[in-house]
Amino acid sequence: MTEAILLVGGKGTRLRPLTVNTPKPMVPAAGVPFLTHQLARARAAGVEHIVLATSYLAEVFEPYFGDGSAFGLSLEYVTEVEPLGTGGAIRNVADRLHSGPDDPVLIFNGDILTGLDIRALVATHQDSGADVSLHLTRVPDPRAFGLVPTDGTGRVTAFLEKPQTPEEIVTDQINAGAYVFRRSVIDTIPAGRPVSVERETFPGLLSAGAHLQGMVDSTYWLDLGTPMAFIRGSADLVLGRVPSPAVPGRRGDRLVLESASVAPDAKLTGGTVVCEGATVAPGARIDGSVILRGAVVEENAVISSSLVGSGARVGARTTLRETVIGDAAFVGPDNELRDGARVWCGARLPAASVRFSSDL
Ligand code: GDD
Ligand code: MG
Repeated sequence: MTEAILLVGGKGTRLRPLTVNTPKPMVPAAGVPFLTHQLARARAAGVEHIVLATSYLAEVFEPYFGDGSAFGLSLEYVTEVEPLGTGGAIRNVADRLHSGPDDPVLIFNGDILTGLDIRALVATHQDSGADVSLHLTRVPDPRAFGLVPTDGTGRVTAFLEKPQTPEEIVTDQINAGAYVFRRSVIDTIPAGRPVSVERETFPGLLSAGAHLQGMVDSTYWLDLGTPMAFIRGSADLVLGRVPSPAVPGRRGDRLVLESASVAPDAKLTGGTVVCEGATVAPGARIDGSVILRGAVVEENAVISSSLVGSGARVGARTTLRETVIGDAAFVGPDNELRDGARVWCGARLPAASVRFSSDL
């Protein structure tokens, strides 16, 4: 049986305006909690047993995903009392694995949206006989990631997490947050204390002469760690730029969920999703955005690359661009919010109270 560990703990506070009660993996992307896409993609690749390693607001996962049977999976949950870091979280769930010592165990960062061919990563692992195999991707600016140079055969030569100096930027290949570990390697991670797999385990394995194999590809890849990336990822799921069996509807310019009400002349484009019970009034234009459950967008509002939280209201003629409106917030008519503005959950912004100007 192929099994996997999904890492969904840590600080994870980047969607703060929205996530007072909702941890990031549960914020809907293309209409379903983001984690659903990862679970569905793993299932489609033959994974049957997944252990969710969590450390915050863990109690929201189990009521939604249950024992996993609705997804064709066997799901287990393990909650850390204090966050144990990525390596510590992996070690902490080792006793839930059924695999034998030489079997491959998949591990996924819980905030990645990717078209990774999971079976190909496992095949690479088995063909190379590696101790650990890593999915790698290339990015224009690797500084926020783990740098992973490889030799001509794809064997990993170093692992440099979040390089600080220009000299450390030796490659544009980064750790894409999906691994295959030989089961016995997981047992060598120290138990009962925080461990970073990136800063401690991988460098330690390399200096001990272990075989780490990289698989680099150019498939869709996005770390959803920032609100803008999250909004982009949701739109890309709707547009079909990244495959997920969990998108609840046809791929296209828009996804309108059941019981949402969208006026016939409202214009929804760029992978916009309107969740259950939300209302979009006549003349509104929404591009590449996420309108969560029960939110209301009034007449002629113009919204792009933004996220409107559950039960929030966006007033008539208000413009939002690259903005996050927290759950149950109220943005009155004739406002203009742009460029990273965040309206806190439940906050109230009166009519015509904010505009933007280019004449600084
Ligand atoms: N259970 C648990 N406990 N999970 C954790 C903990 C923890 O203490 N700390 C982090 N995680 C989970 C996060 O929820 C996330 O899914 C994953 O581990 C990675 O943590 P991030 O905090 O998102 O790390 P990052 O994005 O800065 O860097 C990581 O991902 C990059 C790719 O997006 C590293 O793995 C980099 O090397 C990598 O390039
Ligand atoms: Mg991340």
